[in-house]
Amino acid sequence: MLKYFCCSCGESRTNQSFNKSTSHPWEAYNLKELLHATNNFHDENKLGEGGFGTVYWGRNNKGVEIAVKRLKSMTAKAEMEFAVEVEILGRVRHKNLLALRGFYAGGDERLIVYDYMPNHSLVSHLHGKLASEVKLDWNRRMSVAIGAAEGLLYLHSEVSPHIIHRDIKASNVLLDSDFNAKVADFGFAKLVPDGMTHVTTKVKGTLGYLAPEYAMWGKASNSCDVYSFGILLLELVTGRKPIEKLPGGIKRDIVHWVTPMIENGRWSNIIDPRLGGKYDPMQLRNAVVLAIRCTNGDSESRPTMMEVVEFLRGGMKDVRKKEVVVMKNGLDDHEDYEDDYDIGVSQTPDQQCAKSSYKLSR
Ligand SMILES: Nc1ncnc2c1ncn2[C@@H]1O[C@H](COP(=O)(O)OP(=O)(O)OP(=O)(O)O)[C@@H](O)[C@H]1O
Ligand SMILES: [Mg+2]
Repeated sequence: MLKYFCCSCGESRTNQSFNKSTSHPWEAYNLKELLHATNNFHDENKLGEGGFGTVYWGRNNKGVEIAVKRLKSMTAKAEMEFAVEVEILGRVRHKNLLALRGFYAGGDERLIVYDYMPNHSLVSHLHGKLASEVKLDWNRRMSVAIGAAEGLLYLHSEVSPHIIHRDIKASNVLLDSDFNAKVADFGFAKLVPDGMTHVTTKVKGTLGYLAPEYAMWGKASNSCDVYSFGILLLELVTGRKPIEKLPGGIKRDIVHWVTPMIENGRWSNIIDPRLGGKYDPMQLRNAVVLAIRCTNGDSESRPTMMEVVEFLRGGMKDVRKKEVVVMKNGLDDHEDYEDDYDIGVSQTPDQQCAKSSYKLSR
């Protein structure tokens, strides 16, 4: 991949499609245009900074808003990162994946150009600058969950070779003007040859989201993404970070925080208090139960993304029928719902709620 990339880029290249094998061309930008678009990578244009570079807002020659990721330095690792991102983004296209508009490669500069997402990332809404505005109401959170799950399902099942994302986290789920989820950052992605269920690889990704078998043994499979998605789902409903620091430097992960509350039926303590009690209690339960299933320590026991999508879609149907209930003090914790959930995702949420004993099979 790296070889392909290095051979196919250069200062002198003019705009053209590199991706002739597919129906969605992307452009090779020139440096002058991107310098102009971002006001010479001015600090005021900065959207954020990640492990591999800084992202800038800009407007291209056609007047379209863009986000330009400027990779930090051209180490062999960064070069690989860039090549993987360009290669992978070039071959995927889905309503819930962040589209690549183009790139520039020349000298020491490696720039990736994306569609600009005016509502930024989930991180800014859950834990960052926009958190106090609470623009992400319950319905939006659920549709973001479904959108991100559909993007992942596409990567896992609909492209060939299949793609494991490996870095699903809140900062990599961006939001367009209608708060639709766009999964971003395929720089860590891994292509899985046909017929293989997993690949053994060096561990990359972000603490708090890593499946145990991947963190410990580098065993990357679709179910690692399912695990990370489960953490993301908990983050969405609770508004809490995947790992929090307790006094004394002890760290607690979100699954350990939520588990006793589920076991004691204290559902209303789980919901993000910033929602002011406006949520659908049944959907909350279904989402939490699904997240627990996704974060099962045993990778074989986790659902597939197909099951996750079906389950989430099933839960959403309910809310279309009825408005989200305004809960005065949240749910009476034991009212109606003392029941136990079997969290087999092959069941509909209603079937699950009819069950009378709840166990977390972790
Ligand atoms: N297309 C985009 N539109 C709007 N904002 C973006 C876009 N891409 C990235 N950002 C912003 O820039 C920030 C930095 O992104 P970046 O991917 O470099 O780092 P990260 O996701 O925080 O960490 P990592 O390097 O591990 O992926 C994101 O959190 C997001 O707020
Ligand atoms: Mg990112």
